[in-house]
Amino acid sequence: MNIVVLAGGISTEREVSLSSGTMVTNALRRAGHRAVLVDSFLGLDVPGDVMDVFSVEGEMEAVRVEEQAPDIEKVKAARGDSGFGTIGKNVIEVCRAADIVYMGLHGEDGENGRIQAFFDVLGIKYTGTGYLGSALAMHKGISKQMAAGSILKLAESRVFSKGRGTEGIEEIGFPCIVKPCCGGSSIGIAKATNEEELKQALADAFRYEDEVMVEQFIAGREFSVGVLGDMVLPPIEIIPRGGFYDYAHKYQAGWTEEVCPADIDKKTETAMQEMAREACRLLKLEVYARGEFILTESGELYFLEMNTLPGMTPTSLLPQEAAVLGLSYEQLCERIIELSLE
Ligand code: DAL
Ligand code: MG
Repeated sequence: MNIVVLAGGISTEREVSLSSGTMVTNALRRAGHRAVLVDSFLGLDVPGDVMDVFSVEGEMEAVRVEEQAPDIEKVKAARGDSGFGTIGKNVIEVCRAADIVYMGLHGEDGENGRIQAFFDVLGIKYTGTGYLGSALAMHKGISKQMAAGSILKLAESRVFSKGRGTEGIEEIGFPCIVKPCCGGSSIGIAKATNEEELKQALADAFRYEDEVMVEQFIAGREFSVGVLGDMVLPPIEIIPRGGFYDYAHKYQAGWTEEVCPADIDKKTETAMQEMAREACRLLKLEVYARGEFILTESGELYFLEMNTLPGMTPTSLLPQEAAVLGLSYEQLCERIIELSLE
């Protein structure tokens, strides 16, 4: 197949996306496809026939994710205030020429449904969830509203808008977690244990977005569960070595221990898998996704969020879960494509 792996983009997760994108492109080439990595923001030069871009072969150099996420002010400056016009030169032409676009984007635009909706209108096939599910899952406040009253147990939370006050924030109590509503890779997230830290965390989160969620901190073990078509993958336990599962612990090799299959009883495993499946149904997720959960010491299982474009980097979780079922990285990428074309 001729496949465009769309990655990069212009969000704070740009580097993570390029890491996923190069890995996926290499895997698809190894599996015999004509795959090309296209940076959705920078675009590319197409000197001759558009089909020629698919003839590039060989292993691309892996992209290293730095310890620090890209600076948000620089990202904003590159993107421009409106966020319009973030598709680079020739991107649409090349995507149109492909049999399918593998969505390797993370963060804004690529993950929030805007590009998916645009592709729908243009008749371009792409992998994964459509525009509506992407938009619903991207916004942590909206996803929690969609999940309210279901089997998904949720931590108390409130969403606040920039400049509109923080009425009711005291009901959340301490410790709490402050998160930009549509962020990823833990960027802009902080834990607050007192008023002063909360003030600081809010100011920081509002640098990223105009909507911020303040959520009750649930102490416990952290898990992630992938869904692939009809299959729910085995849960993986995430044990960061010191600190918490922040950007550096997510992408620096050896900073986090990942245990898959997780050391949990069958009942908890089944409950987690059922919750992941239900979250996909409620949020209209398709093809594949990855859910996040916390298990408290007393055995209560909380749902945190779903990710519609799970990372595919060397330290990412979904490929590790798939490997436990005997599915190689190449097979995982091919399965995602197969399911997306059904
Ligand atoms: N947002 C990152 C890429 C993830 O969920 O894996
Ligand atoms: Mg996430």
